[in-house]
Amino acid sequence: MRAEHTLDARRKRSIDLDLETLDSITARRSDLKDASGVCGPVSTYSSQQLCHRWYRSVLAFSDHVARRFIETVPDAETVLDPFVGTGTTCVEAKFLGRNSIGIDAVPFFVLATRVKTDWSPDAASLQAVAGEVLETARKGARWLSQSIPEDATWSDLTPRAWELWGEYLKLPSVAPVRFLSPRVYVESTLLREAIVELAPFELRSHLQLCATKSLVRGSRVGFGPEIGFGIPPADFDTFRFFWKNVEEMACDLRVLNDVRAPRTRVVLADSRDLSENLANDSVDLVVTSPPYPVDKDYTRQARIELVFLSQVKSLGDLRAIKTNMLRASTRQIYSGDNDSRFVEGLPEIRRIVSRIQARTSRDSDTSGFAKMYPRLVEEYFGGLYRHLTGLRPKLRRRARCIYVLGDSRSFKRVYIRTPEIFGRLARMAGYEVTGMQLLRIRRSTTLRKPLREVAVFLRAHRDS
Ligand SMILES: C[S@@+](CC[C@H](N)C(=O)[O-])C[C@H]1O[C@@H](n2cnc3c(N)ncnc32)[C@H](O)[C@@H]1O
Repeated sequence: MRAEHTLDARRKRSIDLDLETLDSITARRSDLKDASGVCGPVSTYSSQQLCHRWYRSVLAFSDHVARRFIETVPDAETVLDPFVGTGTTCVEAKFLGRNSIGIDAVPFFVLATRVKTDWSPDAASLQAVAGEVLETARKGARWLSQSIPEDATWSDLTPRAWELWGEYLKLPSVAPVRFLSPRVYVESTLLREAIVELAPFELRSHLQLCATKSLVRGSRVGFGPEIGFGIPPADFDTFRFFWKNVEEMACDLRVLNDVRAPRTRVVLADSRDLSENLANDSVDLVVTSPPYPVDKDYTRQARIELVFLSQVKSLGDLRAIKTNMLRASTRQIYSGDNDSRFVEGLPEIRRIVSRIQARTSRDSDTSGFAKMYPRLVEEYFGGLYRHLTGLRPKLRRRARCIYVLGDSRSFKRVYIRTPEIFGRLARMAGYEVTGMQLLRIRRSTTLRKPLREVAVFLRAHRDS
């Protein structure tokens, strides 16, 4: 009876974005455009991008995939993504009327997900305050173009530029300086400061996200599988881009302000240890994509953001974040790491480790990285095992879990079938593997060999 009641209530709350609803949202957007001139032409928006476009990461999985997985379990009231990144699962859960919990170890991703799932700011207030912010920042930047040319790099800066803008050009030693344009950095900092000065608390994070997005867009950064050099758009105008971000956000908020949305909780934590952050018996469905063992350091992907928002000021801050993460990169292995103990002796992992070792000695590779590979593989899978064990008591009796995982050939080209090994770990941790589904085939960047991305479906065995 209770279950029926809550399910009904949930259905009522649901803003189920099926195609029909999407059409009506699109229609409302065009009304908005006519009424206020705020939105751009409706054809330039894909309805599916609502909120997702506020901040996207190249590592995000597709909103369609997240959505489809959530839809497959219609009676799941609370959805968890323990590796939430920039919040795709939580946003889609909210669209579908489900409560959700997102967890990530990187503070910037937590902020982005919180903002993307907070539809409470009034759109008109957001724009009004952003207008004041913009005016203040623009005034502050009056003499900027004369002292820092658009294409100046840090080594081009004159003593005059330092004299005028030194305070705004200060960067912590962990900043990815070579990616940053001094001019865009100063402009973004002026925006950030004006936000702190002028924005009420409830609008601050939303506006900070818009300013951060401007800084990244105007930086010399390209996102492939790894962060690398890229070219910002020609004639990049930080302030105009900030305003565009605000407009997009306001446009979506106008639609979403009226929605009685389900709850989303976003937590900064290490999902290998869920004891403190989740109540027992609280989760019906897990939809997630943990890091793959491909030697990727997620803090590098978000370094500009972390530094700009003062979430990282020193190497110590960075290390504190990395120690809370699943070990997926050689830049993330520390002397006290000990998750490997959970997978010691597992034949699948022993085989990978000995293949890596054999190839390392065949190649006479004495590099520090190669030495770390076997350890990394063990720590990675050990961390996943610890996560799975900690998760079990948090799941309700009929809970389902869907994990998207990818193969790897990043360590001496040894093929790691991550989904199958994950399945094995899940069985060891008391889950039943109910299926696997191939989602797509990637190509490894250097080897051009196929790598699968697979969804692994689990159900937890509970005693009662
Ligand atoms: C593949 S990304 C997830 C992307 C996400 N599906 C999205 O749509 O943005 C993996 C995420 O796991 C996070 N992560 C890694 N280790 C973690 C840990 N131990 N606890 C919580 N989050 C972790 C990383 O910061 C990263 O955001």
